[in-house]
Amino acid sequence: DHTQAAETPAGVCPFAKAAMSSRFTDPKGCPVSSDAEAFDPFAASYQADPAEVLRWSRDDEPVFFSPKLGYWVVTRYEDVKAVFRDNRVFSPANALEKITPFSSEADAILKQHNYGMARTLVNEDEPAHLERRRALMFSFSPEELLHHEPMVRRLTREYVDRFVNKGSADLVNEMLWEIPLTVALHFLGVPEEDMGKLREYSIAHTVNTWGRPTPDQQLKVADSVGKFWNYAGKVLEKMREDPSGNGWMEYAIRRQKELPEVITDSYLHSMMMAGIVAAHETTAHATANALRLLLEDKMTWDRICQDASLIPQAVEECLRHSGSIVAWRRVALEDTEVGGVSIPKGGKLLIVNSSANHDERYFEDPDSIDIFRDNASEHLSFGYGSHQCLGKNLARMEMCIFLEELTKRLPHMQLVPDQDFKYLPNIAFRGPENLFVEWDVSLNPEKTNPEILATHEAIKIGSPSKDDIYRSVLVDQVRHEADNVIGISFKNQDGSEFPRWSPGAHIDVMVGEYTRKYSLCGYNTDRKTLDIAVLREEDGRGGSKYIHDSLKKGDALKIKGPKSNFRLDEKAERYILIAGGIGITPVLTMADRLAELGKDYCLHYAGAARASMAFLNRIEQDHAGRFELYPKAEARRADLQSLVATADANTRIYVCGPDRMIEELEQLCEPLPDNILHFEHFTAKHETFDTSNDKAFELVLANSRMVVTVEPGQTALGALKAAGVDVESDCEEGLCGNCEVEVLEGEIDHRDNVLARSEKAENKRMVTCCSRAKSRSIKIAL
Ligand code: HEM
Ligand code: FES
Repeated sequence: DHTQAAETPAGVCPFAKAAMSSRFTDPKGCPVSSDAEAFDPFAASYQADPAEVLRWSRDDEPVFFSPKLGYWVVTRYEDVKAVFRDNRVFSPANALEKITPFSSEADAILKQHNYGMARTLVNEDEPAHLERRRALMFSFSPEELLHHEPMVRRLTREYVDRFVNKGSADLVNEMLWEIPLTVALHFLGVPEEDMGKLREYSIAHTVNTWGRPTPDQQLKVADSVGKFWNYAGKVLEKMREDPSGNGWMEYAIRRQKELPEVITDSYLHSMMMAGIVAAHETTAHATANALRLLLEDKMTWDRICQDASLIPQAVEECLRHSGSIVAWRRVALEDTEVGGVSIPKGGKLLIVNSSANHDERYFEDPDSIDIFRDNASEHLSFGYGSHQCLGKNLARMEMCIFLEELTKRLPHMQLVPDQDFKYLPNIAFRGPENLFVEWDVSLNPEKTNPEILATHEAIKIGSPSKDDIYRSVLVDQVRHEADNVIGISFKNQDGSEFPRWSPGAHIDVMVGEYTRKYSLCGYNTDRKTLDIAVLREEDGRGGSKYIHDSLKKGDALKIKGPKSNFRLDEKAERYILIAGGIGITPVLTMADRLAELGKDYCLHYAGAARASMAFLNRIEQDHAGRFELYPKAEARRADLQSLVATADANTRIYVCGPDRMIEELEQLCEPLPDNILHFEHFTAKHETFDTSNDKAFELVLANSRMVVTVEPGQTALGALKAAGVDVESDCEEGLCGNCEVEVLEGEIDHRDNVLARSEKAENKRMVTCCSRAKSRSIKIAL
């Protein structure tokens, strides 16, 4: 078994050999930083807030070796996702391996119990995993999941009935632990009799797999885990006598008759035990985390109390912010690289999805909770790729129903102040051991309005659709900014603050049938207003004309965001900012930020004439001495070549402007390293491609062993989604890069505005929402 063969034991330096080579020049020969050395995922501070504790890593050392754990720790969104995605190189075989080896006495106890936990789904390699997963998916289909809805509602109603008139409760112990356990047992088809024992067993399983028990605790844990194993075996034996029920395990027993090599005895026994934990603790903890977050954010809590249709998006945002699985594991099957760091074959990885979910490079203002964040469902709390949580939609359904019942019946509930949230020290599962709440029983709404108990929201299986998530705003001001340019200020309809946004961020404005992106151009310290500037484009797609002609103060609109595809690297020393025409908007907010940071920057702004160049006064006021204007009417032109010639490794160039300008800069910057030039286009380039000769092509999915055909009128992204393959997307116009996939073979017809020229030439990445194939087929790493 490769996981056993090539592991790096904790405390042993994986650099030992490398350090002797010339690569490491550190006099001590040790490339492990002091932060990496100090990293301890069992420490109380990490349990309390893993993403915050790893901020240093996301910023400075996104992949590091932890000598204490013997693991490579991965903390940025893109890297964590890339590891999850590549199940050929990164095997999940160690997902359920003990992180703390047991003493020989504890091992002996496990042996006495004949403990034999082996491969399930979550730790199985390909091709066995996908065959098994496909054979067992049926029970997770939307129709099947809906069968469980009445049971979840009934249980929730009964549990809340028990405490609704008490005025206080520990939601974990009086509701959140037992309902998901009962649902899990129903889902699996296991009798409900042994709930008390199962609670003890599942905690023991968590400590056994992901915890750091002392030698004394190990003896007890080993005994409980051994008993859990035998309990699972007995339940299975009994189930085999009559596997006609609706439970997932009963279904698996029936499938075993047709596919005995795929669904083995060992699998069934292991899954019976692992399944109880997977379906139960995860959901209990995730709901407790969500309720804590929501009750700490009164405005959001009140919003979902008033409008239950917002609950699914609140659930998704809570899963992003505080999911219940904070990190997961993989082992490298070959020498490889993550985020530019070499990982040796056999290297074990701790991929910290909770840190990824708070990566400011991916989510705007990631530490605050924002139920109008339309990309919240791109969180990695359920993992990603071929092993992504099978039970995610059951969990979502349960969480929605719990929140709906609680917001309806106890909207006035509050957290008991100053309570100490405790967590079981382990590297994977995270949820508070108690959640004490209190309320004034005389204000229970059902006392005056018992009808509230009669109705409920319709459940939609799955994550909420991005299309349904938007902010309702009002136009607060429309003003002249320059010839053909108007400035618009938006306020939230309820007057609340917007999330923080980063320089270069944009919003999507939905006007009539149009959705258009506009960079934010106000001061990001003003949290109550969002400002955009809109150029009237006579030959555009119509959105700007509509905005110019029809929008007025007081109008209600829907917007999405703020979000960002154009991020400022704040670590450089010198900055050249270049704007052409209305491209000034994102560049201006970058200049504001650089001024605030006291950096060395210069803003170069080209336009037709002063009268048509927006924000000249603001630039003069805020960036005096740090800008150059190039109005064409005054025969002033920016000498881009000379500007680029001054760039060194510590310079960053940010540009937004017409395609010509960006293309010229791309050419000029070609000899420079990739991280110097950064740009944003206003519009999608692929609209200008002639699509009449587009041909069908095949996408060969190397990891999933599937072939998907992309028809002429279809995008690769559309074809993948239609085939049930998860690929993220946002703009679907080739502007944001979310839908990018790694290409292993085949020639790409690039039509996006995301990849740099050098990246296009490399032929290794493809933006699936618009690019196509030049060859008949393209092999991708999905
Ligand atoms: C896998 C999280 C609820 C069944 C996983 C994985 C994670 C996860 C992180 C590993 C993904 C990967 O390796 O890419 C969660 C969370 C839950 C939850 C946060 C609750 C909020 C459930 C429920 C069930 C379930 C309710 C069952 C009814 C599974 C199964 C797998 C899995 C069977 C293995 C899938 C495979 O390897 O193909 N889950 N889970 N989970 N989960 Fe969940
Ligand atoms: Fe934005 Fe494809 S979804 S580039």
